[in-house]
Amino acid sequence: MDKKDFTTTFVPQDAQRFIKDKQLQEIIDRQAKRAILSMAQVHELEMRYTCAIKEVKTKFEVLSTEFNCQFKRNPISYINTRLKSRDSIFNKLSRKNLPLSIESIEQNLSDIAGIRVVCSYIDDIYKLVDSFLMQDDITLLEKKDYIENPKPNGYRSLHLIVSVPVFFSDSKRDMKVEVQIRTIAMDFWASLEHQMKYKKAIPDQEKIIAELKRCADVISDTDKDMLALRKHIEAVQDEPTEEEILFEKLRQINKPI
Ligand code: GTP
Ligand code: MG
Repeated sequence: MDKKDFTTTFVPQDAQRFIKDKQLQEIIDRQAKRAILSMAQVHELEMRYTCAIKEVKTKFEVLSTEFNCQFKRNPISYINTRLKSRDSIFNKLSRKNLPLSIESIEQNLSDIAGIRVVCSYIDDIYKLVDSFLMQDDITLLEKKDYIENPKPNGYRSLHLIVSVPVFFSDSKRDMKVEVQIRTIAMDFWASLEHQMKYKKAIPDQEKIIAELKRCADVISDTDKDMLALRKHIEAVQDEPTEEEILFEKLRQINKPI
């Protein structure tokens, strides 16, 4: 794109009339070029984190497929992924007084790539996490178990920050990904609590906080009860006979993966 095209593209038509001064014109063109190059770098960074999300998502999908084949039930109910928005990145760096640069984003922020794995039962969370962290290309950087130690507001979830290598056409990059693993019930509470956080200026804040905590505790008890029920059902089921095992294997062979 030549200089003339830059101006016609980036400067609104009615403003172009006022730009007579050649020097001013050059400054504007230089700044437009710099802005475009920075945006291209941000875009490349987003591409890399998007690929890291794909790597980690696939790992959980593989574990789920294998688990399903072995135990005939899905440990994962659903998976959500998100790439942190440019606005949120900017706000977080500014809030922490950190430099606004690509290097600073990669060094200081570990939640650009986020994946949320929502499980059926509490024990599925720990089984999946153990299998995931055993993989030799995954490096655990941080672990916070808010299920063992819930936040004072009642928030429960297991958080991991991991580093995963991603292979591009001419390089290998270790990328950070934040993984949040929780049950459907914990996800239900966290989603609604998150929405309520944005409703400001409510008079009886303290009552609402206490009520949310109560709901979180009820939900946690329900999670434990559901797990106990599943275990009870598994325990009272008769051990399958040799013929039944063979028949089940035959049935599985003919089922699409
Ligand atoms: P930041 O990443 O800077 O927010 O802080 P941190 O690194 O101490 O975060 P932490 O691992 O505690 O939480 C990171 C993410 O978990 C948040 O961005 C939310 O998505 C989620 N989270 C943490 N606490 C809560 C909570 O009280 N309610 C809800 N709904 N989500 C939470
Ligand atoms: Mg964080």
